[in-house]
Amino acid sequence: MVQPRRVAVMGVTGSIGRQSLDVLRRSPQFELVAVSAGRRVEELVSVVREFRVPRVGVPDDVSATRVRDECGDAVEVVVGDEGLAELSADADVVVNAVVGFAGLPVTLATLLAGRRLALANKESLIAAAPLVEGVRSTPGAEIWPVDSEHCALHQCLVGSSPAPRHPDVERLWITASGGPFRGYDATQLDGVSRDEALRHPTWQMGPKITVDSSTLMNKGLEVLEASALFGVEVERIGVVVHPQSIVHSMVEYVDGSVLAQLSAPDMRLAIAYCLGAPERLDHHWGQLDFSSGFRLDFEPPDRVNFPALDLAYACARRGGAAPAWMSAANEVAVEAFLDGRLAWREIVPLVASTLESYDDSPLESVAHLRDEDARARAVAHGNLPQ
Ligand SMILES: NC(=O)c1ccc[n+]([C@@H]2O[C@H](COP(=O)([O-])OP(=O)(O)OC[C@H]3O[C@@H](n4cnc5c(N)ncnc54)[C@H](OP(=O)(O)O)[C@@H]3O)[C@@H](O)[C@H]2O)c1
Repeated sequence: MVQPRRVAVMGVTGSIGRQSLDVLRRSPQFELVAVSAGRRVEELVSVVREFRVPRVGVPDDVSATRVRDECGDAVEVVVGDEGLAELSADADVVVNAVVGFAGLPVTLATLLAGRRLALANKESLIAAAPLVEGVRSTPGAEIWPVDSEHCALHQCLVGSSPAPRHPDVERLWITASGGPFRGYDATQLDGVSRDEALRHPTWQMGPKITVDSSTLMNKGLEVLEASALFGVEVERIGVVVHPQSIVHSMVEYVDGSVLAQLSAPDMRLAIAYCLGAPERLDHHWGQLDFSSGFRLDFEPPDRVNFPALDLAYACARRGGAAPAWMSAANEVAVEAFLDGRLAWREIVPLVASTLESYDDSPLESVAHLRDEDARARAVAHGNLPQ
């Protein structure tokens, strides 16, 4: 039987947030005790009403006043990063569905409070890996990966020799759909538009991760995410293009055996796995129809036209704040691309040129990380075309 649990969903108005609500609508044993959002206050208010959520987090005082006016005194509203951190301690499981570095307080506060973190927000783990490692040993703290590839790896690692390092694992294989521009040559990539980049072939996701999928930066971020989550060095993590997005990732063991997790692409399966574990919820999201037959294709990624992948490996080897710089510069570049200030072809070169200003330094504290993040963003902004 699945345990009753108090759940918080941070970033409830986004793609993962809404899909988390779908899981909760079908799972009466879970109670939604806290939610947060960024700019979409109207949608936030409707979630609070539907689920009768007692505590809400918003980024600023203007949004707080709007929520108070709409929801009345029965709802407690907290503001800013400290508010988010407070909400994380309220629940048994916290879904971190915030996008970008803004998800950092949720990741750290949830682990420090000794709670289960259902982690979709890969950017916080990538930027803060050494700091997250430090708080992961808090009694009760657990990270369950929502990202479909890492959720697949997590499932395929059950029964393997213990983390960290997993000595009986030869290699983790992360699958990539290849994005909307798979097979494009340099000339074709020169002219791609915002709309084309936002048209992912197999997944419906928020705009930032959809653009990251088109450059393969998302796969690069996922290599770092897997390394931080499972304690496996990046040399033992490979990427393979699998256009159908049915095999979500694989673990190759030292005896040559490969375990894979398969399902139709549906993030609700991963979210339900993280909420219900160790039990499984019988919702059948992503169920495959083997009787109708389907193909599974695999091919190596194009590392020449999609240099983000090798850039991510290089940052992982560099360590310190290099992954934080890469992720911050990428956030700036993707935002500029979405606003029409940067061409698709310029996204990854902007990240690479920003990294040239990074002086290797070990990450010492959250304050230091915030400082490095701010410096990387300032350099990236300075590198944008005028
Ligand atoms: N979507 C997917 O299928 C998928 C799959 C795997 C991993 N992920 C990861 O999951 C995370 C969320 O992705 P998504 O696609 O769901 O993004 P999204 O649709 O853009 O949603 C992002 C959420 O974060 C909130 N937010 C943004 N900035 C914020 C801030 N400064 N403070 C507080 N909240 C803020 C947004 O609020 P407002 O909308 O109210 O502004 C929204 O609720 C990302 O790290 C992504 O890489 C997503």
